[in-house]
Amino acid sequence: MSDTNFTASRGGFTSKSGFILAAAGSAVGLGNIWRFPYMTGINGGGAFVLIYVICLCLIGVPLLLVEFSVGRHGKANAIDSYAKINEKVKFIGYIGLFSSPMFLSYYSVVSGWTIYYTVRSFTGLRNVPADVMGDFFGSFISNPTLPLLFLAIFIFLTVYIVANGVSDGIEKYSKILMPILFIFIVILVIRSATLSGFKQGIAWYLTPDFSKITPAVIVAACGQIFFSLSVGMSGMVTYASYLKGDENLIKTAGIVSFFDALVAILAGLVIFPAVFTYGFEPGAGPSLVFITLPAVFNAMPFGSFFAFIFFALLIVANLTSSISILEMPVAYLIEKKGFTRPKAAIFIGVIGFILGIAVSLGFGVWSGVTFFGGMSIFDIMDYLGSNVILPFCGLAAAVAVGWVWNKGAVAEVTNGGTNSQGLGRIWIGLVRYLVPILMAIIFMGQIGIIKLG
Ligand code: PHE
Repeated sequence: MSDTNFTASRGGFTSKSGFILAAAGSAVGLGNIWRFPYMTGINGGGAFVLIYVICLCLIGVPLLLVEFSVGRHGKANAIDSYAKINEKVKFIGYIGLFSSPMFLSYYSVVSGWTIYYTVRSFTGLRNVPADVMGDFFGSFISNPTLPLLFLAIFIFLTVYIVANGVSDGIEKYSKILMPILFIFIVILVIRSATLSGFKQGIAWYLTPDFSKITPAVIVAACGQIFFSLSVGMSGMVTYASYLKGDENLIKTAGIVSFFDALVAILAGLVIFPAVFTYGFEPGAGPSLVFITLPAVFNAMPFGSFFAFIFFALLIVANLTSSISILEMPVAYLIEKKGFTRPKAAIFIGVIGFILGIAVSLGFGVWSGVTFFGGMSIFDIMDYLGSNVILPFCGLAAAVAVGWVWNKGAVAEVTNGGTNSQGLGRIWIGLVRYLVPILMAIIFMGQIGIIKLG
C-alpha cells in the first residue's frame, strides 16, 4: 500500500484548526480544572503557579513537540511511529498502549462524578448545607452502583465519538465542544471578577511567596505538567499522526501549551476568589472541586446556575481528553490487529469500564483494598500514571528523539529546514540536555529514589 493511500485510509484531520482544537481538547481537562487549582492550593499559591509556568516552557512545550514530531513523521499508530525512528524505542508506544485503559478508567470515574454533579446542580446539591457537603460527596462516591451508571454514560460518550472516526468524530466534536468550553469559562471568570473577595483571592493565587518554593514544589509542578499536557502516553503522537504534512509544529505546540496553561490559570481565577469571598479554605486538596466549590456555589446568588455551568464545563473538557486516551489504542488495533474502528473503540471502552468498576468500588465496598502505604485503587492508578508512567515515557521519548533521531527530528519540526530553524535548534538542545537531566531528577524524586524537600 502506498504511503498516501495508507494515510487516506486511516483518515485524518481536515483542517489545521481542527487539529489544534483536538490537541488542546486533549490537554485541557481534569488536569487543568480539578488538579491544577488544588495542587496550587496545597502548594502555597503564587509560587506554584510561577514554577508551573517556567517548567511548562522548559519541559512541557519541548516534550509536546517531541510527541508531535514522532507522530507526524510516523503517520501511523504510536508503536509504529516510534519504530520508524528506531525499533528499540517502540517500547514507549507499547507502554502507552497498555496504560491507556488504566488512564481511561480512572479518568472516566471522576468524569462520571462531574456528570452527576451537573445533573444535581439544580436539584439536590442546592439543598446541602456546607458542613455536610463532604458527606454528600462521600456517600455518592462510595455508593456501589450509582457512580457506575455515570461512569458508563461517560465511557459511552467517549466510545461514540471515537467510533465515528478522526474527522467525523474527534475533529467534529472538538470543534463543537471547545468553543462551548471557552464560553463557559468566560461566564465563570466574569462571575468571579464581580465577587467581593476577588482581590483577596487573586492576591493569594498570583503573588509568589518565594519562601514556599521547595524542591518538592518543583516536582509537583512538573508532574502536573505531564498530566495536564497529555504527554507521555503517546496520545499526542497518535493525534499528530493524522496530520497531513505542512503545518508548523513548533507554533502548534506553542498554541496548545498556551491554551492549556490559560485554562488552568483561569480555572484558579474562577475558584479562588469565590473560595475567599465565602470564607472557605483554599488548601482542601482533591475535594476542592467536589466539596468546597459546591458549598461556595450554594452561598452565591444564582449558585445553581453557576454550579451547572462549572460541572458541565468539566464534562466537556474531560470528554475531549478521554477521546485522546481512547484513540491511542484504537489506532493500534485498527492498523495492527485488523479491528474495525467501532469494534476497537468498544473493546477498549469495555476494558476501561471494567477497570473503572474496580476504581469506583475502591471508594466504597472495596475501600479495604489498599496498596503500599494505604493507597486506594484510584490512588495507585493515579500515582502510577502521573508519577511513574508519564515522566518515564517522557524521559524515554526525549532521549529517543534527541539522541537517536536527532537531525531527522530537527528536519521534521522545521519542515525540512523551511521554517523556524533557530527555534528548531533551541528545541533539540533542550530535548537532548536540559529535559532529560531535569526529568531524571524529577522522576527519581517522584518515585522516591532521591529525597527532595
Ligand atoms: N491532559 C488531560 C487533562 O489535563 C489528561 C490526559 C492525560 C489526557 C494523559 C491524555 C493523556 O485532563
